[in-house]
Amino acid sequence: PPGYVASPYYPSPHGGWVSDWSESYRKASLLVSNMTLAEKTNLTAGSGIFMGRCVGNTGSALRVGIPQLCLQDGPLGLRNSDHNTAFPAGITIGATWDKDLMRRRGVAIGEEFRGKGVNIHLGPSVGPLGRKPRGGRNWEGFGADPVLQAYGGALSIEGIQSVGVVATIKHLVANEQEMYRMYSLVQPGISSNLDDRTLHELYLWPFAEGVRSGVGAVMIAYNAVNGSACAQNSYLINGILKDELGFQGFVMSDWLAQISGVASSLAGLDLSMPGDINQVPLFGNSYWMYEYSRAILNGSVPVDRLDDSVTRILAAYFQMGQDQNYPRPNFDTNTQNAEGPLYPGALISPQGVVNEFVDVQGNHAEVAREVARDAITLLKNNNNVLPLPRNSSLKVFGTDAEKNPDGINSCTDQGCNKGTLGMGWGSGSARYPYMDSPIDGFKARGARYQFFNTDSFPSNSNPSPSDTAVVFVSADSGENYITVENNPGDRTSANLNLWHNGDRLIRDVAAQYANVVVVVHTVGPVLMEEWHDLPSVKAIVFAHLPGQEAGASLMEVLYGDVSPSGHLPYTVAKTEDDYGQSVKLVGFQLGQPQDTFTEGLYIDYRYFHKNSITPRYAFGHGLSYTSFSLSSATITAGIPLTITPPTRPAKGETPAYSTAIPPPSEAYWPENFNRIWRYLYSWLEKSDADAAARAANSTTKYPYPAGYSNVQKPGPASGGAQGGNPALFDVAYDISVTITNTGSRSGKAVAQLYVQFPSSSFDTPILQLRDFDKTSTLAPGASETVSLRVTRKDLSVWDVVSQNWIIPNLGGDYGIWIGDSSDNLHLRCGTVAGS
Ligand code: NOJ
Repeated sequence: PPGYVASPYYPSPHGGWVSDWSESYRKASLLVSNMTLAEKTNLTAGSGIFMGRCVGNTGSALRVGIPQLCLQDGPLGLRNSDHNTAFPAGITIGATWDKDLMRRRGVAIGEEFRGKGVNIHLGPSVGPLGRKPRGGRNWEGFGADPVLQAYGGALSIEGIQSVGVVATIKHLVANEQEMYRMYSLVQPGISSNLDDRTLHELYLWPFAEGVRSGVGAVMIAYNAVNGSACAQNSYLINGILKDELGFQGFVMSDWLAQISGVASSLAGLDLSMPGDINQVPLFGNSYWMYEYSRAILNGSVPVDRLDDSVTRILAAYFQMGQDQNYPRPNFDTNTQNAEGPLYPGALISPQGVVNEFVDVQGNHAEVAREVARDAITLLKNNNNVLPLPRNSSLKVFGTDAEKNPDGINSCTDQGCNKGTLGMGWGSGSARYPYMDSPIDGFKARGARYQFFNTDSFPSNSNPSPSDTAVVFVSADSGENYITVENNPGDRTSANLNLWHNGDRLIRDVAAQYANVVVVVHTVGPVLMEEWHDLPSVKAIVFAHLPGQEAGASLMEVLYGDVSPSGHLPYTVAKTEDDYGQSVKLVGFQLGQPQDTFTEGLYIDYRYFHKNSITPRYAFGHGLSYTSFSLSSATITAGIPLTITPPTRPAKGETPAYSTAIPPPSEAYWPENFNRIWRYLYSWLEKSDADAAARAANSTTKYPYPAGYSNVQKPGPASGGAQGGNPALFDVAYDISVTITNTGSRSGKAVAQLYVQFPSSSFDTPILQLRDFDKTSTLAPGASETVSLRVTRKDLSVWDVVSQNWIIPNLGGDYGIWIGDSSDNLHLRCGTVAGS
């Protein structure tokens, strides 16, 4: 049925119809029209896993000047590299609620990837969205809300691409847990079963904003959606991404996620990464490369489908200006040594210089520190125990306060939780150039402290009434291919508890000290009921995942050089059950594991509000050392609203592609070619290529999926530009509000804007975040006016019947709420009647 998130959608829409991309498409299609078949198929897949310096390496088309393109992880900085910055994680920048900082962090990340010669950065991550508090990779993204994710993703993309690096928004879509994510020989990957409205209003929202920002690449998730693997889900790639969202770049598979050749091509996949087949041992087999050449020659895949893929890849390359002086890779993700095998995945490989140790850090430590500092979220501060007086006598507890004694990079992809937790584990990690630990911070301050580097309460700490105890605790998670302390990515064994008996340590310290400050490095929410209300637990600080900059950033807050200004990017519950049963991890099931999103739109604070559950700390909560007031709110109507948005613009021109099958000679192996074992090539033996060409005339054809058509569609009513119908982003209301520092210390304030929908036939969450802003540092008494806005889309719901965004109750009483947390909204701006 229409709108069912796995119904067929063919053919794959040609790219190039958005004017911002016209020039890049002109250049790309000119090149494509001069390329041979084998040159084209060589650009649509990687050369094989561990077959080059980067985590993904496409083939090249050197005759027409296109080098191999380097794809490299990950969202918080260069993975497995050197002389790079280990930036604070996505969840940390999310906690800053600072749009300018989101963009500046993106620029700095982009500069490092460019400096190392990476063409395609494998970030940002906006999926998982954070539906499951125990999901392993939520920390790579920006928080459990589509709008916070959307700003985090889009502003990162703008920053990264501003220096010419292609960003990759990932993972499309609904990849909400790590366990069972991949298709394998024995079991299909988990199926996220969700309805069309939930898809549009939650999980797709940040992808739409990323596309609107002009993102060059999208990575498809491992899992299935409604039973159809994302990597060959035509509804998702062709229908939603390329037609409805008007995506002009290229679509890559997640690593080894591709499970078919022809079907995934028809479904809209453009680039197979890293090129190999997962289902059989990795012996140099591919669904594409040489098989793609064969599939074109024998007529299984229409030529324009391949041409569109290559054009999309090259258009992104031109769109970022990578044809002008772009550096070649100068590092190797497979080794830290200067020299090594050029193709580590081959049995016998030529050796050479692989790491040139180019220092790309610039002054990025500064922006990293600023992010780490401005993310720090003060949850509780009884008796104003913070900021600490300069000369406090401190007793510091917990191994999380100091660097991993085995070495800061001793675990591959940070697959351990030992010492200060600066990031989670997996492909989204980076090697630390250094770790400025909290203990380094105390030392640098000349603090009066004694450190007990243990997670069990020591008997020799000699508590004195004048001491303040600072306890460091952590909670970690990561990607599924590494299991840490029995957690296979997701927090299965640790649940939502602190690791390393952190609860016990805090309780023991609290029993002996009257003033306890708890500092938490964490990937997401943790339960704190065992100790939260103990009278001596005076202050609780979430420092999230600060990357390399854990120390000085924290000191600036603890000692009050700045007021804390972070706010929670998720809800912290009192018990795990409070998040709802359906968002728990799915365990083993025979056949394809099924994960049904029965809660629909009600995740995180939306669920708490609907069910009147009081969380321990609400989404958006964060205290300061000073106080703020909101005043002089004004609301100005923008465009007049109608139930359905104005008609979309028609698609612009796309390149004209020939339908003629090229001659088989375009795919013959070159003479005297020295083949590397396991390396993926796009050529065929002459006899194979000739046989394929003969088969093109056969009457038995490859069975196309039901619903296949070769006629390009005009696109759905909800599309029309990058991100969807441009009218969706018309500003319906401009809101301005004055924020005044009413306290006695300087600080930054965050204004959060939530929309309350009037009642209608659409069951809609009570409040939904739609915009936010952060002030600059305000001195006591100082004011700043912030501007917020609400777009047509912000006031709409996705109507599955008309397949469009509609205003469900035009003329109804919309509430625009502004405050500093989802549970502290003290200003309701008039009523908006939608007229
Ligand atoms: C798998 C991960 O899911 C993805 O995020 C990453 O970019 C690739 N591996 C490449 O390492």
